Amino acid sequence: MIQLDCVERDFVRISDKKTVRIRALHNVTLRVKKGEFVLITGPSGAGKTTLLNLIAGVDRPTKGEIKVSGNPLHTMAEKELSIFRNKVIGYMLQFYCLPAHLTAEEQVMLPLLIAGETPPFARRRARYLLEQLGIGSLATAYPGEISGGQAQRIALARALANSPSILLADEPTGNLDESTASQLIDLLVQFNKTKNLTTIVVSQNDSLMRKAHRRIRLESGKIVADNIDDIIEN
Ligand SMILES: Nc1ncnc2c1ncn2[C@@H]1O[C@H](COP(=O)(O)OP(=O)(O)OP(=O)(O)O)[C@@H](O)[C@H]1O
Ligand SMILES: [Mg+2]
Repeated sequence: MIQLDCVERDFVRISDKKTVRIRALHNVTLRVKKGEFVLITGPSGAGKTTLLNLIAGVDRPTKGEIKVSGNPLHTMAEKELSIFRNKVIGYMLQFYCLPAHLTAEEQVMLPLLIAGETPPFARRRARYLLEQLGIGSLATAYPGEISGGQAQRIALARALANSPSILLADEPTGNLDESTASQLIDLLVQFNKTKNLTTIVVSQNDSLMRKAHRRIRLESGKIVADNIDDIIEN
């Protein structure tokens, strides 16, 4: 369902009046099956976020082909891509941002309203998701009034709002203590299992390392290890 063939992504930067070309991804070929839970690891600058951005359709490859749920992302027009992102992809960004003037419930309603749902439906769905993630009582709280772990759950609820078939999460436990991180990981595992939600997480977390079906390691823009297991170990 996710297919990358010979994907490259080059960035061009000007440094000291010279053009510098950075190859963030180099000849990446990858298949991810429906319902797989894939962990992506690798050092800073390895290309992890670049890879997620390409799968999410927020960035395009310099070369190569990307198909996600049958959609050829490398050739799709911008309008089609934005519909694809809204319907198919749930994305928890590495440096996510919750607009300060929206309550938790409104943050989750946003992608639903963009998808054309009515406000009453969007509100019901947002409340249901916040409830499911254990933060129903924070529906009317603003980002300034909640903790980091709670904010991550809101970001997760927002990513799940339109019932995506693919969830991408970039360092979702990055700033959390061990026990809060572990609660968020349990939620990711639970959604993967119960909804057969294809899940790709960038993280260096040891517990995720054990729970993922598959661990992919990126170094300098290349896949250097890809261990596929058949079953979840925990
Ligand atoms: N918009 C951009 N313009 C120029 N270079 C970029 C851009 N985005 C990423 N890069 C470069 O591409 C390479 C890969 O970046 P990427 O953000 O994918 O790394 P990462 O593995 O996610 O790192 P981290 O663990 O620090 O988040 C880095 O060398 C980075 O500097
Ligand atoms: Mg990154």
